[in-house]
Amino acid sequence: MAQSPAASPSTFTFRSSDDPILRAQPHRLATALTAHADQKPRERVLLYSLVFALAPRRCLEIGVRWGGGSRIIHAALSDLGAGVLVSIDPEPALEFDWGQIADRATLIRGRSPADLPKCRTVADGLFDFVFVDGDHSEPSVREDLEGLVGVTAPGADILLHDAYHQPVARGIDAVLAAGSSFRDLGMAATTRNEGVRVETGRPLTYGGVRWLRRTTP
Ligand SMILES: C[S@@+](CC[C@H](N)C(=O)[O-])C[C@H]1O[C@@H](n2cnc3c(N)ncnc32)[C@H](O)[C@@H]1O
Repeated sequence: MAQSPAASPSTFTFRSSDDPILRAQPHRLATALTAHADQKPRERVLLYSLVFALAPRRCLEIGVRWGGGSRIIHAALSDLGAGVLVSIDPEPALEFDWGQIADRATLIRGRSPADLPKCRTVADGLFDFVFVDGDHSEPSVREDLEGLVGVTAPGADILLHDAYHQPVARGIDAVLAAGSSFRDLGMAATTRNEGVRVETGRPLTYGGVRWLRRTTP
């Protein structure tokens, strides 16, 4: 911060940092709306915006399917001009050639949590941003979060998709109740989706993004 010698103590001239990341422009924001992702528009924009605003160095996506979530994270990192993404799925159903985003994204065909250490090795360090969108059963969500303890940096941001889905919510709550590895920052997207299982007529809830932060030791 530079203060003009002629100015009074209460006024000053601020010379901005030259760090190029401060001037990054969201040129690829539209990818949040055009990529085929299993997410509602508000959730897609949130995902792009949080990556763009937080500027994480190493991102992890658990659960890829069509690859839309990966494309959105890649778009934000590309606009920042920094950061890498590792995406993991045992059987992705990609709708595009991964080579289009391979400049800063790696696809691991494997399972969370068993293959999370491999993801960390590929990223060459601990993750500071994670999008969890894999198996939505309560035990799997619990295991995903427990597995993340060993591969995330203190202070890492963790978003969990479909957090209104009851098994996902129970899995998150169980991990929060059992330990102090994560702090609950609440719902980052209130996209509660009260639907119905067509075959049985049974009500079924999906949607929502819950935000956790790895605690610092
Ligand atoms: C809801 S889709 C992911 C959608 C994607 N994140 C998006 O934004 O479009 C869930 C994916 O999780 C994958 N999956 C299931 N179990 C997994 C596991 N143990 N580890 C990683 N991915 C898993 C499935 O194969 C499926 O492709």
